[in-house]
Amino acid sequence: MGETPRRTATKRHYLMCRPTHFEVTYAINPWMNPDKPMDAGLALAQWERIRDLYLGFGHEVSFIDPVPGLPDMVFSANGATVVDGKVLIAKFRHQERAAEADAHRAWFEDRGYTEVRVPRYVNEGEGDFAPAGRRILAGAGFRSDPGAHEELREFFGLPVVGLTLTDPRFYHLDTALFVLDEDLVAYYPAAFSEESREVLRELYPDAILATREDADAFGLNAVSDGLNVVVTETATHLIDELRARGFEPHGVDMSELLKAGGAVKCITQEIRRP
Ligand code: ARG
Repeated sequence: MGETPRRTATKRHYLMCRPTHFEVTYAINPWMNPDKPMDAGLALAQWERIRDLYLGFGHEVSFIDPVPGLPDMVFSANGATVVDGKVLIAKFRHQERAAEADAHRAWFEDRGYTEVRVPRYVNEGEGDFAPAGRRILAGAGFRSDPGAHEELREFFGLPVVGLTLTDPRFYHLDTALFVLDEDLVAYYPAAFSEESREVLRELYPDAILATREDADAFGLNAVSDGLNVVVTETATHLIDELRARGFEPHGVDMSELLKAGGAVKCITQEIRRP
């Protein structure tokens, strides 16, 4: 093993939505079971801990008001994709979440964002789209329509790398892969088609490969600022790997939001300015 690389954080701007109306009232992914009890107070405490970590790292955090009747709105990463100050609004696969897109559109328009695009194709925001340096990794297979990838490329003017998800438990790209810095990612190979694994191997020969246990623990649904990585604490192999690569992992308990099939990244939309 060579020397551990030195990592540096860059200041981020995140958009979060308080889980005031969070509940599991329907099942649109294999993790959701409306009959299973959920502790709303604990869900809020777990969300607040993540908000406080971001503020402690010196990042800017903005908030979008939760809307009654939209229990998944806490997963703000799904509402839009923002790169260079341009906003591609989501268009949800399931009717249950459709109105979240309107709330995100209003949020950005009310704050003076001028390039706000309402899409033609289904896309679930950063659930499936992961900007990485000057390219965007884009998942499809369960939620986002492959047609959305072309729309993404056109709107942002950046190369888009399409990746196909094959395991219904990892239904969004951000459940199977996250961006550590411009040219480094961590991912769980078994969540992808053979072709997509080949693409990832070529683009990221040094990637951190997560184990099945890491993926099951939602460890890939993590957020990195280039140094600090907020990650579910049960993804122990991944946490060791992150440390060995010079990152500073911050383990968090996400037991309640996991009952809706989401963890750290899902509740964190990144607003990328020009
Ligand atoms: N219950 C939500 C859904 O199935 C969870 C979304 C998780 N968000 C994410 N970025 N993966 O749509």
